Amino acid sequence: MSARLATVSGAEYAGILGVGSYRPTRLVPNAELVDAIDSSDEWIQQRSGIRTRRWAGDDETVVSMGVAAAQRALEHAGVDAAQVDCVLVATISHLMQTPAAAPLIAHQLGTEQAAAFDVSAACAGFCYGMALASDMVRAGSARHVLVIGSEKLIDITDLTDRSTAFIFADGAGAVLVGPTDTPGIGPVVWGSDGEQDELITQRENWKSVIADPDPQMPHLVMQGNAVFRWAAFTMAKVASQALEQAGLTVDDLDAFVPHQANMRITDAMARAMKLPDRVTIARDIAEQGNTSAASIPLALDRLVAEGQVSSGDTALLVAFGAGLAYAAQVVTVP
Ligand code: COA
Repeated sequence: MSARLATVSGAEYAGILGVGSYRPTRLVPNAELVDAIDSSDEWIQQRSGIRTRRWAGDDETVVSMGVAAAQRALEHAGVDAAQVDCVLVATISHLMQTPAAAPLIAHQLGTEQAAAFDVSAACAGFCYGMALASDMVRAGSARHVLVIGSEKLIDITDLTDRSTAFIFADGAGAVLVGPTDTPGIGPVVWGSDGEQDELITQRENWKSVIADPDPQMPHLVMQGNAVFRWAAFTMAKVASQALEQAGLTVDDLDAFVPHQANMRITDAMARAMKLPDRVTIARDIAEQGNTSAASIPLALDRLVAEGQVSSGDTALLVAFGAGLAYAAQVVTVP
């Protein structure tokens, strides 16, 4: 006998209800790290646009930073933690195989046993999470979803590696996704290219680290030139596709909030997409470095806090990184 199952359906539209972030206390200027990589403040600023970054201290973890960012997103949305049905954390630096960071964050926030899981899609993780959250709200599996990007990359960065030491940094950003009266999150354009996994990767897996008589943390390594070319050119096309799928053109945009990988990549994408000069471009990287999955909500929160964007504005997000995972979507600013 084939029984017919009941189904649920959710809100007609989903959108971002609130945004928040947490920046670690310790500010690290280029001058503090140049000696270890035989570099200079001038070189780093010219090649990456980074002036300072923040490194988390011992008491600032992926979980604690995620909690702080999520609390601010809930406050901004005016929604209580008890109304959150799902907590989704994008991270690559929660250094526990299990449990994931999300259930710990959900508990500390005071949710009523919300569903909780981590997403591992590196720097694309936040936009992956947004796509899932939007679909959950519209399909009816959750009404309010916290999407959090939280990273403590300092733990997996080799501070003597010239191509990564000055780039990666720490912090957390979060948004609350929920039902809205009009569409607030456009269709996602996403994908991956595992064939190019070597471009950004960890050197070793945990098993080989443990087998090593002189074990080292499996740090991130990167082929900077190849990553640069891929990101600057291919990702502009992905971002343009997301605009097209949302039924918009660059003339409809108020803001461009790309993953804060490198200021030159951001500039190259803006040129390739022919963004009009009046479009606000997020440049949080100058002060915050590259915080992987946390970079887009951190950058969006700064634009909101500084009044560079207004509620109801239209912003294009695009994220890309290891696994060569990428995702882009258009959103309405909360
Ligand atoms: N400080 C000073 N000089 C450096 C340096 C550093 N940290 N790293 C490399 N150099 C030197 C090299 O020795 C080389 O010198 P030479 O020309 O005398 O031989 C020169 O700079 C160019 O080296 P190269 O490795 O080709 O650097 P690059 O121009 O590709 O710049 C990056 C390096 C990392 C800044 C650049 O590749 C980049 O931004 N890549 C993208 C990284 C990124 O955004 N990653 C995040 C993706 S999520």
